[in-house]
Amino acid sequence: MITAEITKDVFYVGTNDRTTTRFEGIWPLPYGVSYNSYVVKGESKTAIIDGVELSHAFEQIAKIKHIDDAMKVDYLVINHMEPDHTGGIVALLHAFPNLKIVGNAKTADMLKGYYGIDKEDIITIADGDTIDLGGMTLKFFLTPMLHWPETMMTYVEEKKVLFSGDAFGCFGALNGGVVDNEFDVSYHFPEMTRYYSNIVGKYGAPVQKALSRLGSLPIEYICSTHGPVWHEKVAEVISIYDRLSREECENGVVIVYGSMYGNTAQMVETLARQLTLEGVRKICIHDVSYSDESYILRDVYTYKGLIVASPTYNGNLFPKIDSFLKSLVLRGVSKKVFARLGSYTWAGVSSKTIDTMVEKLKFETIGQQIEMKQGISSCTIEQCRNLAKEFAEALNRE
Ligand code: FEO
Repeated sequence: MITAEITKDVFYVGTNDRTTTRFEGIWPLPYGVSYNSYVVKGESKTAIIDGVELSHAFEQIAKIKHIDDAMKVDYLVINHMEPDHTGGIVALLHAFPNLKIVGNAKTADMLKGYYGIDKEDIITIADGDTIDLGGMTLKFFLTPMLHWPETMMTYVEEKKVLFSGDAFGCFGALNGGVVDNEFDVSYHFPEMTRYYSNIVGKYGAPVQKALSRLGSLPIEYICSTHGPVWHEKVAEVISIYDRLSREECENGVVIVYGSMYGNTAQMVETLARQLTLEGVRKICIHDVSYSDESYILRDVYTYKGLIVASPTYNGNLFPKIDSFLKSLVLRGVSKKVFARLGSYTWAGVSSKTIDTMVEKLKFETIGQQIEMKQGISSCTIEQCRNLAKEFAEALNRE
């Protein structure tokens, strides 16, 4: 059983989920996920910060009791109401009958709707309010839309510990280590970008707002609701979130394509080869029929260039390209160096449809866009060569 004392009187009591295959029923979990929960013990009062998913409730309770079987727990602070962090609330209330739930006005509305808990039974805090645990002061920061309306963070002033909710979290269970200086966290970084792009990506502006509020706080530990506790890498993860929420990407290109019989794929392979000859060194190619959208989004949030290729299918786009583009529109992805490749057999629709969809985004479309009829020809190869040259130049512009 993993429990850990992160710093004196601040404990980890979260759980690992290695059996759920898709987070939110959508996003793959090849390395599992952790539901992080914490205990802060003051001289007079004790608080649990964040809960766990329903099927993990008894494990969390056992861990809390493992710290001190006789411990009286006074508060449950809910930084985020999504059920991966609140499913176990009812069990917690049974285990610790004196527990008072702490949340904001929006938390209260959701507690009633999800769990039938009345507003009168919770302590409703406002931005900047504090609760004194005796030598430990919990200070609350409302951070709405990061990524739900009730999201907030809790800061322990005396220990410089920030409980950040989903922010700074990532996919991937904790394999023995809890704090980042206890184990190799290298695989958690791409999983942080994937988590951000899949779950939080739509809310770049609220993330920036939250970061500017946190900027003045001294932070020794970031305790998010998923993934490692950040200690040695606090500055690094704040910088990652800052870059992701400003859509500041690395030099490189993601090519996303659909292809029924390999003709559109051939055009993509030709363009990728030409991009390489033009000096582009990071090229990720995703066949939408093979790659899960979760990973495509991760790469879109990593690299500056985006090229989308689709055949015309049933008088529209290749269905999974349609779904992918809708995901970009939903997230308001912008700042991309962009090009599209369309193809058709007798009536070209995919090119126009991609152009219409990306009009809503602030992409910089580069060069002469390509539309191929049926199979690849010397003309298409020449068009790929020209496009690659202009695209590589655009990627290298500051
Ligand atoms: Fe980890 Fe937004 O729930």
